Amino acid sequence: MPTPTDHLHDIVVSPSILAADFARLGDEVASVADHVEWIHVDVMDGHYVPNITLGNPVVTSLRAATDRVLDMHLMITDPRTYAPQFVDLGAESITFHPEVEDDPLGLVEDLRNMGAKVGVAVKPDHPLATVAELLPHVDMLLLMTVEPGFGGQSFRDDVVPKIVEAASWRSDHDATFRIEVDGGIDPDTAAVVAAAGADTLVAGSAVFGHDDRGRAAATIRARATGAR
Ligand code: DX5
Ligand code: ZN
Repeated sequence: MPTPTDHLHDIVVSPSILAADFARLGDEVASVADHVEWIHVDVMDGHYVPNITLGNPVVTSLRAATDRVLDMHLMITDPRTYAPQFVDLGAESITFHPEVEDDPLGLVEDLRNMGAKVGVAVKPDHPLATVAELLPHVDMLLLMTVEPGFGGQSFRDDVVPKIVEAASWRSDHDATFRIEVDGGIDPDTAAVVAAAGADTLVAGSAVFGHDDRGRAAATIRARATGAR
């Protein structure tokens, strides 16, 4: 009988380029690529969140610059239009906030049929129940541990029970989706979220804010692995 503490997935560290130097993005990605599996790419449209980041031209350049998984996090009001374009450009993983979509399950299925892994994201104040119908169909659940829109915010520890709840749901339903967390993740909070059941850790400032990015990512991974 599986339990919430069964470890379905190895820990993945996904550095968020939101904290990188956008004028030197290729070099910034290269500075972490040997140490991580994924690169987290935050797309913001100035509507879903009050910030604007990047779109297709930058994704094209990132795809040419790295063979790491592009872990796209769409904080946009129109994922139906743009998510398939990112898949066409070579992004392997697409996560969107489903409350903006009329038919989120249809979008999940369309993107999966294109060969992408698909995640759904939940804001800190939104309950897990808001995405329960989608969970059997997704590859990843992204639990935001800050309000989306900006890097460098403090970790919301009131989200930890939702991570535990998601891990229990996954176990109870024999599901296999990854549980990703995003916002305020550093070595200390990595241990907290991994103990709660998260397996995929986004970290912006805590990786790109250090001179030795490899060591920063390795420390996050080690603390998370040790806490499971
Ligand atoms: C926030 C973004 C995050 C952000 C995390 O809306 O989704 O990915 O880059 O940044 P840190 O790790 O600095 O909190
Ligand atoms: Zn993100």
